[in-house]
Amino acid sequence: MDIQIDVSNIVIETERLILKAFTKEDLHDLYSYSSIPGVGEMAGWPHHESIETSERVLHAFIESKEIFAVYHKADRKVIGSLGLHKSWANEDEGYKGLKVKEIGYVISKDYWGQGLMPEAVKAVIDYGFNTLGLEAFTCDHFSENRQSQRVIEKCGFRFAKKGQFYSKPLQRSIEDMKYILLREQDMQKDHTKG
Ligand SMILES: CC(C)(COP(=O)(O)OP(=O)(O)OC[C@H]1O[C@@H](n2cnc3c(N)ncnc32)[C@H](O)[C@@H]1OP(=O)(O)O)[C@@H](O)C(=O)NCCC(=O)NCCS
Repeated sequence: MDIQIDVSNIVIETERLILKAFTKEDLHDLYSYSSIPGVGEMAGWPHHESIETSERVLHAFIESKEIFAVYHKADRKVIGSLGLHKSWANEDEGYKGLKVKEIGYVISKDYWGQGLMPEAVKAVIDYGFNTLGLEAFTCDHFSENRQSQRVIEKCGFRFAKKGQFYSKPLQRSIEDMKYILLREQDMQKDHTKG
């Protein structure tokens, strides 16, 4: 079951990050990480060729109310995004009745490899299960995207099935791997192992 979540009313703080709604002031930060070739392509969208593209995307982010800006506390800027989207599980017979959201994310190349996205995803999962009453999260990665696979694994998701994703802007069909994390699985995991 898809449920509406308005992120413009939510702020989630972690050790190094704050997740909050995008504002118009984030345009230059958004352009700065979205214009690097090869980053957006890993998530199915072309890098931004101009600031006007970022302006359109930023407007869509704000209007959708489903995308968090990932704000880096120490560097005082937005370094990525994390979205809560409609999930494939809403159309899957096995999971149809669940209150579930799909997580999608990207982070600036300058910040890769510091465990920042797992930190953000874990905080959103915790908030979703304990405050919003969600019953599951899903997450996907293109089969060639090992970096995203590692984030998904580190956050405790389980592989569910393969699918095909057609990226209109990239004009290619890409194999994607779909994962799910049920609230009851998350509750059972050993949190002492971090
Ligand atoms: C996927 C992504 C969000 C990971 O974020 P992150 O904060 O760097 O995550 P982590 O620090 O946990 O690193 C994940 C893996 O990336 C790899 N990695 C780390 N630094 C790297 C670097 N500089 N270059 C390439 N790969 C790197 C490592 O394999 C790491 O796994 P490990 O910790 O087991 O070694 C980030 O790579 C990204 O934004 N990629 C482009 C967009 C994208 O793929 N979005 C997901 C679409 S499904």
